[in-house]
Amino acid sequence: MEQRHERALLLDGTRIAEEIKREVSAEAARLKAEHGIEPCLAAVRVGDDPASAVYVRNKVNTSAALGLRSEHHALAASTSTAELLALVAQLNQREDVDGILVQLPLPSQIDAARVLEAIDPAKDVDGFHPLNVGRMMLGQPALVPCTPAGIIELLVRSGIEIGGAHACVVGRSNIVGRPLAQLLLQRDATVTVCHSRTRDLATVTRQADILIAATGRIALVRGEHIKPGATVIDVGINRLTDEALARELFGPHAEERIAAIRRRGYTLVGDVHPAEAELVAGRLTPVPGGVGPLTVAMLMRNTVTAARRRRLGVV
Ligand code: GUN
Repeated sequence: MEQRHERALLLDGTRIAEEIKREVSAEAARLKAEHGIEPCLAAVRVGDDPASAVYVRNKVNTSAALGLRSEHHALAASTSTAELLALVAQLNQREDVDGILVQLPLPSQIDAARVLEAIDPAKDVDGFHPLNVGRMMLGQPALVPCTPAGIIELLVRSGIEIGGAHACVVGRSNIVGRPLAQLLLQRDATVTVCHSRTRDLATVTRQADILIAATGRIALVRGEHIKPGATVIDVGINRLTDEALARELFGPHAEERIAAIRRRGYTLVGDVHPAEAELVAGRLTPVPGGVGPLTVAMLMRNTVTAARRRRLGVV
């Protein structure tokens, strides 16, 4: 019996993110040298969700590494919608703040939609304001959500053709699935969006040349969901604490994952079954080190873009 020995080529998101960050850093230096502008990101976090704390710290540290100014506003878990709206209004007013990011999810007492709509669209570096969402839908210049924009960069810079490809997005969140489907469509992919009500998921996903999993469900996408040779993009960042499951998911790489669980209580795993996907996919993003670093790089790019557009009036 013929055996398929090749393993999927891993797409190095960290390397591509570094490349984008170098470009952003150069652009920030130019804005400062030529116009005296120092782009500044204000990151707002409410409560003490540990994953959110890590993400926001990472965004603030990356800003500093690239020569951008940043502020970290950490508010109590009991913060009201009115209190958060007051902070957003203050940040909207400040001439020196170019980008405002409110980390999601927010505690349940806060009206998240109201908060996102209150952010000045010109400073909305997450691209979540309805005006930016609408502009993106129309193909007009807009601040575009960072994770979807990062996935497009990853595909383009890895030489993966989007035009004419069948791209299947699993997940329809406002942060990833919906905007990503739009961006892929704008680049002439044939786009299918699957979700929790999709019937016979594998039959649909197996048609995809580019399969993107953004569901927040550990290893939802298995080998049977993947067309042989397809490009698989894993957007999931899930904390796995179960050693037996780690053994099943990571196969030959399980030992280092189990060591991580014992050391810090968890290991990160995506929405794609890594050991199965590696045997079927042509290209695959790892978790961690795939899509995650690109999200931060694109946030930095959006911050510099927002500074340039708002302060110099240029696209
Ligand atoms: N939570 C998960 N992803 C994101 C993101 O891209 N931006 C914000 N603000 N919150 C998130």
